[in-house]
Amino acid sequence: MTQKTHAKKEMVQNMFNNIAPKYDLLNHLLSAGIDKGWRRKVRKALAADHPEIILDVATGTGDLAIELARLPVRKIIGIDIAEDMLEIGKKKIVKRGLEQIITLEPGDSEAIRYEDNYFDAITVAFGVRNYEDLEKGLSEMHRVLKPGKKTAILEFSRPASFPMKNIYQFYFNYILPGVGRMVSKDQSAYTYLPQSVARFPENKEFMDVLRKVGFKNPRQNRLSFGIATLYLAEK
Ligand SMILES: C[S@@+](CC[C@H](N)C(=O)[O-])C[C@H]1O[C@@H](n2cnc3c(N)ncnc32)[C@H](O)[C@@H]1O
Repeated sequence: MTQKTHAKKEMVQNMFNNIAPKYDLLNHLLSAGIDKGWRRKVRKALAADHPEIILDVATGTGDLAIELARLPVRKIIGIDIAEDMLEIGKKKIVKRGLEQIITLEPGDSEAIRYEDNYFDAITVAFGVRNYEDLEKGLSEMHRVLKPGKKTAILEFSRPASFPMKNIYQFYFNYILPGVGRMVSKDQSAYTYLPQSVARFPENKEFMDVLRKVGFKNPRQNRLSFGIATLYLAEK
């Protein structure tokens, strides 16, 4: 691991630990609640496969894991490198009586502690953009997924057409960092967000990475004028 990439992981971990207490509030506020609909789409994309054991990578405060618990699953394991995010998630899970189904534990996408071919489905919501080594993180997801099973990856993308492109750019670059800074008291987290989205591969470029690490049949569904994209692929 180079020093530079190691620095990103630490930066991301510290940043999410720092904003953890305000993360849920800001998430729903800044997306005006649209994020809930996006997570519902992930659940619906997996429903027909009847997964029994799901891994939710970069689970954060567990919102996607909680949404997925509406499926008739046996177990959902959520992993994340930011333990303060997980602590908030654990409280939400207990409050909803889901502790028999969902387990949150510290874990890194780039070194998943489970054996090969273990999970029936693997999900990530707004996590892959933060990976230090994208290919390594996706390869590990591929390794622990059962052959023939699906990964569902939700990530921010960039609206391509007028007027949404312009509205989005103004909102993401000017409004969101200011509100984020005010509420979270973190100087950089909500400046990092638009910058990291601007740098991250989307569309074919991201699907090429999925293919490169071994996933088959990658496809995408751009949501809400392209603000977010749901990628699906099989092992
Ligand atoms: C924007 S949050 C998303 C949380 C949650 N999935 C959601 O939809 O609200 C991104 C999360 O990715 C986590 N993360 C970043 N890099 C990671 C890695 N290498 N392995 C596991 N989690 C990681 C961060 O700690 C953070 O909690």
